[in-house]
Amino acid sequence: MPDTRTATRPAVLDLIGNTPLVEVTRFDTGPCRLFLKLELQNPGGSIKDRIGVAMIEDAERDGRLLPGGTVVEATAGNTGLGLALVARAKGYRVVLVVPDKMSPEKVLHLKAMGAEVHMARSDVGKGHAEYYQERAAALSATIPGAWFADQFNNPTNALAHETGTGPEIWAQMGHDVDAIVCGVGSGGTLAGLTTFFKRVSPSTAFVLADPAGSILCDYIKTGVIGPVGSWAVEGIGEDFIPSIADLSGVRAAYSIGDEESFATARELLKREGIAGGSSTGTLLASALRYCREQTTAKRVVSFVCDTGTRYLSKVYNDQWMVDAGLLARPRYGDLRDLISRRNEDGGVVSVTPADTLLVAFQRMRAAEVSQLPVLEGTRLVGVIDETDLLLRLRGSAAHFHDTVSGAMSSALETLLPDAGIDALQRVLDRGLVAIIADASGFHGLVTRFDLLQHLRRSLA
Ligand SMILES: Cc1ncc(COP(=O)(O)O)c(C=O)c1O
Repeated sequence: MPDTRTATRPAVLDLIGNTPLVEVTRFDTGPCRLFLKLELQNPGGSIKDRIGVAMIEDAERDGRLLPGGTVVEATAGNTGLGLALVARAKGYRVVLVVPDKMSPEKVLHLKAMGAEVHMARSDVGKGHAEYYQERAAALSATIPGAWFADQFNNPTNALAHETGTGPEIWAQMGHDVDAIVCGVGSGGTLAGLTTFFKRVSPSTAFVLADPAGSILCDYIKTGVIGPVGSWAVEGIGEDFIPSIADLSGVRAAYSIGDEESFATARELLKREGIAGGSSTGTLLASALRYCREQTTAKRVVSFVCDTGTRYLSKVYNDQWMVDAGLLARPRYGDLRDLISRRNEDGGVVSVTPADTLLVAFQRMRAAEVSQLPVLEGTRLVGVIDETDLLLRLRGSAAHFHDTVSGAMSSALETLLPDAGIDALQRVLDRGLVAIIADASGFHGLVTRFDLLQHLRRSLA
C-alpha cells in the first residue's frame, strides 16, 4: 500500500494564502484608510506558512530535499510551524533551532507537530557559535539527507511573497495601494513585495516597522549600523542586514518600544476583536503613526502576521506583562511594589481554611506558585506551602481530602509595607515567604523569586 503521507499532496496546503483583508475602523487613522491582511488565518497561524510550502516544494523539485530527508531550520517559531506543517504532512523529519525567548505556545505547538526543537541562546548575535542560525547551519551538516531551509538566504522566501502575498494585496485593494507597512525578520516579505509592487505600482511606498533595539530603522535613516539592543517582540527586528532584504523601496521607518508594541496588540484585540501576536503591535503602532502624519488621504496596508493565541502566556497575560515591566501598575515606593500578585488588584490566588489540600495543590500548580495565603474573607489566617502539604500527606494520597486548616502555618510574622529591603531579606534568608500587611489588611506575599525579579527590573 503506498504511503498516503507522501503519495498525495496534503489538502491542508491548499488553505495557505488567500488570507482576508479587513479595514481598521476603531482607531484614529488620520486622513488615511488602513487595512490589515490577516495572515493569522493561514492553517499554521502565520505568514510563514507561505514560505514553508514554497521553500519545501522548491527543494523537492530540484532534488535538494529527497524522500526520507530532514528539514532543518533556524526560526523564531513561525517559520518552524510553517515548515513543520508542510514537512510532517509530507513525511519528512523536522529539526528546528529556536531562540530561547520564544513563547512556550510556539514550542509546544512545534513539538506537538512532531518537530525536534533545539533551544539556542537569544543573548548572542550573528557570528556566535550559539546563535540560532549558526547552530542550525552546523546541525544540518551533521544530519545525513538534511536540507537547510535557510530562510535568511533562500530566494524562494521572497518569491513566495512576490507571487502570493503581493498579487493578493493588489487585487484586494482594487489596484490602489499608497503604502505598505511591514516588519523585517528574514526580509522575505519586504523583498518579495518590493519586487512585485515596483512592477505594478512603483509609487507604492514601503514603511518599515522595527522594534526598538533592532538596527534596521537607524540603518534606513542614517545608513549606519548602530549598536544592537534587545527586544521582546518576536519575529521581527534584526542585528544584521539579512542578505535577501531589499530596503530600496522603504520611504519611512519607525522604531517602536516593546511597551507600545504590546499595548497596541492588546488594544487591537479590545477594539477590533483581532488577536495578533506581539509583532502585530509593532506594525499597527507604526502604521497608525504613518497614517496620522499624512496630510492627504492614503490607502495603507499592514499585516497581522501571526495569531495572538500563540502569545496568551505573554502579550495577553497581565502577570507576565507586569513582571516584564511592560504593563504599568500603581507604584508605592515600598515593599508592595515587590508583590507579584497583589490582593488589591484581585491578583492573589488563595485558599480558605475549609478548602481541601487537593484544592490547595491544584491552585498552586495552576498558578505555578509554591505557597498560598489562606484567607477567611479578606482576613489572612495562614499560609500553606509545599512543605506543609508533604508533611500532612505523609505519603498517603488519602490526606488530600483533609482541610487546609489542619496543615497551614498560622503563626504568622508580617512585614509592614515600609519595613525596607533589609528586613525583607532577613525574612527570606530564614527560608520564609514574606507576608506584607498593615492595619488596612493583607497586601500580598513576597518570595525570593519576587525579590530577584525586582532586582532584575532595577538593572534595566
Ligand atoms: C511574526 C512575524 N514574523 C515574520 C515577519 C516577516 O518576516 P520576514 O521578514 O521574515 O518575511 C513578520 C512581519 O511583520 C512578523 O510579524
